[in-house]
Amino acid sequence: MATFPEYIAQNEERDGVRFSWNVWPSSRLEATRMVVPVAALFTPLKERPDLPPIQYEPVLCSRATCRAVLNPLCQVDYRAKLWACNFCYQRNQFPPSYAGISEVNQPAELLPQFSTIEYVVQRGPQMPLVFLYVVDTCMEDEDLQALKESLQMSLSLLPPTALVGLITFGRMVQVHELGCEGISKSYVFRGTKDLNAKQLQEMLGLTKPSATQGRGPQTAQQPLSNRFLQPVQKIDMNLTDLLGELQRDPWPVTQGKRPLRSLGVAMSIAVGLLECTFPNTGARIMTFIGGPATQGPGMVVGDELKTPIRSWHDIEKDNAKFMKKATKHYESLANRASTNGHIIDIYACALDQTGLLEMKCCANYTGGYMVMADSFNTSLFKQTFQRVFTKDVQGSFKMAFAATLEVKTSREIKVSGAIGPCVSLNAKGPCVSENEIGTGGTCQWKICGLDPSTTLALYFEVVNQHNAPIPQGGRGAIQFVTQYQHSSGQRRIRVTTTARNWADAQTQIQSIAASFDQEAAAILMARLAVYRAETEEGPDVLRWLDRQLIRLVRGPGLKPGSGLRGSETDFMFHLRRSPFLQVFNNSPDESSYYRHQFNRQDLTQALIMIQPVLYAYSFNGPPEPVLLDSSSILPDRILLMDTFFQILIYHGETVAQWRKAGYQDMPEYENFKHLLQAPVDDAQELLHTRFPMPRYIDTEHGGSQVRAQRNTNNIHIDLRTDTLTCIFSLIYVLMFCQYIHFR
Ligand SMILES: *[C@@H]1O[C@H](CO)[C@@H](O)[C@H](O)[C@H]1NC(C)=O
Ligand SMILES: *[C@@H]1O[C@H](CO)[C@@H](O)[C@H](O)[C@H]1NC(C)=O
Ligand SMILES: *[C@@H]1O[C@H](CO)[C@@H](O)[C@H](O)[C@H]1NC(C)=O
Ligand SMILES: [Zn+2]
Repeated sequence: MATFPEYIAQNEERDGVRFSWNVWPSSRLEATRMVVPVAALFTPLKERPDLPPIQYEPVLCSRATCRAVLNPLCQVDYRAKLWACNFCYQRNQFPPSYAGISEVNQPAELLPQFSTIEYVVQRGPQMPLVFLYVVDTCMEDEDLQALKESLQMSLSLLPPTALVGLITFGRMVQVHELGCEGISKSYVFRGTKDLNAKQLQEMLGLTKPSATQGRGPQTAQQPLSNRFLQPVQKIDMNLTDLLGELQRDPWPVTQGKRPLRSLGVAMSIAVGLLECTFPNTGARIMTFIGGPATQGPGMVVGDELKTPIRSWHDIEKDNAKFMKKATKHYESLANRASTNGHIIDIYACALDQTGLLEMKCCANYTGGYMVMADSFNTSLFKQTFQRVFTKDVQGSFKMAFAATLEVKTSREIKVSGAIGPCVSLNAKGPCVSENEIGTGGTCQWKICGLDPSTTLALYFEVVNQHNAPIPQGGRGAIQFVTQYQHSSGQRRIRVTTTARNWADAQTQIQSIAASFDQEAAAILMARLAVYRAETEEGPDVLRWLDRQLIRLVRGPGLKPGSGLRGSETDFMFHLRRSPFLQVFNNSPDESSYYRHQFNRQDLTQALIMIQPVLYAYSFNGPPEPVLLDSSSILPDRILLMDTFFQILIYHGETVAQWRKAGYQDMPEYENFKHLLQAPVDDAQELLHTRFPMPRYIDTEHGGSQVRAQRNTNNIHIDLRTDTLTCIFSLIYVLMFCQYIHFR
C-alpha cells in the first residue's frame, strides 16, 4: 500500500490531477466545515509520451443527460456485453465493434492503467492551423529590427501547410494581401474607427465559408484560404521579404508626444478577419506591441507625454480616464475570439506600461500567452517566443487549439466552477452546483489555447446529505473530458477518470486528515484569493484570506492541532504579501502579468511563484535548499534563488573576493571553479525549461555602488549592502515588493 505522498505523486504523473483532499467527507455538512473545499488542479494536456493515442472513438453512456465515457471504473458484464455507467448507473450495450471482448480481451479503456486515455476522432476535416501576426511599427529601430528577425525565424518553425497572415499598425492599420503576384499590396484602415465583422468582410471582400461551400460542414480537401491568409509553403519567401522591409511608422511624432498607435483597431480587425474566415478552427493571433494604444477604441493613454498612463492611485481615485472604455473594448474582442475558438497572444515589450491591465482578458479568455519584457532585443522575448513553437518527439507542436473541457461527477458531488484561462460554455446539467466558485454555473468550459502545463483549478461541492450515508467502500468519481484540435489537425479527446474514497468525518477523521494535499490546497486557495483580488476590492480579499488562515491554523474542521503545519501557514502568509494580491509598487500592468501567469501554470511552477526557492552552494557538500531568510547568507556560500520570474545568483563576500582574485583560473583551485560553475549550470537548466523565460540576475556581495545595467541577456547588479534582505528588497522593488501592505 502506497503512502499518501506516493499515491498523490502517482496520480499526478498519470492523470495530471492533484486534489486538495484524497479521501472525501461523505456529507455536505462535514465538507463545508473543512475550509478548503474538495477541489482539483487539473492539467488537461499533461505530457504523457508513454500514452500513444488510440485510433477509435470513445464509447458513451446512452443516457442523454450523462454521456460519460466508458472507463476502467465501469462494471462490465462480458457475457451479456453490457456495461454499467459508474456516474448514472445506466446499463449500456457495447457497440457491435466490441463483440469480441472478454475478460482476457479487454479494450484499452477498461484497463486500470488507462485512467487517462486519448482518442483520435476519425470523422471531420483535418483543420489547418492559422497564425496571424499583428505587429506594431511604432518602435525604436533596434526593437523593430530584433522583432522582424524573430518573426522571420518563426516562419521557419511553422508547418508548411499552416496559414499565415500579417497586419501591421501605427497610426494606420494595414492588412497585407499575401496572394498577389510580386506586388506587396495592403488595405489601409483608419485607427480611430472600429469596424464590425460585416463591414470588415465587405471592405476586404471576404466570403464566409458557408457562403462559398454551401451548407453542411467544410470539406477537408479544400482548406479555406483567402488573399490575407496563405499557406506558409507558398509565401514564406515573400513574407520573409515583406517582414524584412517593414519600416518604422512613417507618421512624424512631434516633441513631447507619444506616437499614435492604433492597437485597439488592429486587434479588432485581426479578430474580425479570423471570425469571418475560420470560425471554430484553431488559430493564434500573435500581437507584438512596443507601447500603449494612444488612439481609437482601446486607447489607454493620450498622446501627450506629460500625462502618464494610469497608476493604481489613479484607478483608486476613479481617475483613470480611458480604463473602463478600453477594458470594455478588449473584453468584447476577447469574447468574440473565444467564441470562435481563437487564441490572442500579447507580447508587450516596452519599459513603461502598455495596457496589459485593460487587455488581460484577451489572453486570459482565450488561453493566450502574455509576455512582458523591456525590449524586443532581449533574450527574454526572443527565447520565450521561440519556445512557443517547441515540438514533441513526433515533431508536432506542443500547443493545442480550440479545446473544451467537460466535467462529469458522480451523484454525491457537483462542480462549482473553474479558475484558469477558460470561459464558460454555459452547459447546465445534473453535475452543476448552485454554489458558484470562479467561473461556475456550467460543467463545460472553452479553452482556446492549451499547452502541456496549462492548469485549471476546479472546485467541487459535496451534496450528499448527512442522513444519506454512502455505502461502505463507496467511491466518488469525476471524469474530465478534454476535446481539442491537435496541432497535426486531428481532433482528439482525452479522458481522465478519477475516483476517491468517501469517509465519515465523525468516525474516520484521521484518514481524511491524512489525505490532505497541502501543496495543492495552498495553490487552490491562492487561485481563489487571486480570483477575488481580480473581482473584489483589495482589503476585502486580504481579510478573507486572513480568516481562512486562522481557520486553517486551527485545523480545517478537524480536531484541534490537525491544522496546517507551520510551513504551510508560512506559505499562506507569503501569499498574503505576494504580488498576486498586493498591488502597491507593482504597476497595474505588472499585477495583471503576474496574476495571468499564476492562473495558468501548473502546481510546481505556481509554488515557486508564491514561495521562491533558495539553494546554497558551498564546499561543505552538495547544494542544499535553505530558508528564505537573511540567516541564509554566508560569506563562503553562493545562493541561487528562483522566483519563477527571475533567477538570481548571489556570491557571498568571501566567494566574491576569491572570484575577483581569479582563483577559478588557477589549476590548483579547480574545485572553486566547479563551485562557481554549479549554480550557473543549474540556472541554465531552469532558463532552458521555463516559459516564459525568467530574467537572469548575477549579483554579489560588496561593490562600491548599486547599479542596474540592462543588457540583452541579464541584469548585473552590484550591491553596496550585505544582507540578503537587501537583495530581496531590490528584487521586490523591481517586481515583487512584499513589504508594503495594501492601505
Ligand atoms: C541587440 O542587442 C545586442 C546586444 O546589446 C546588440 O549587439 C545588437 O546590435 C542589438 N540589435 C540591434 C538590432 O540593435
Ligand atoms: C513572390 O515574389 C516573387 C518576386 O517578387 C513573385 O514573382 C512571386 O509571384 C511572389 N509570389 C507570391 C505567391 O506572391
Ligand atoms: C481569467 O478569466 C478566468 C475566467 O473568466 C477567471 O477565472 C480568472 O480569474 C481570470 N484571471 C485573471 C488573472 O484575470
Ligand atoms: Zn451514465
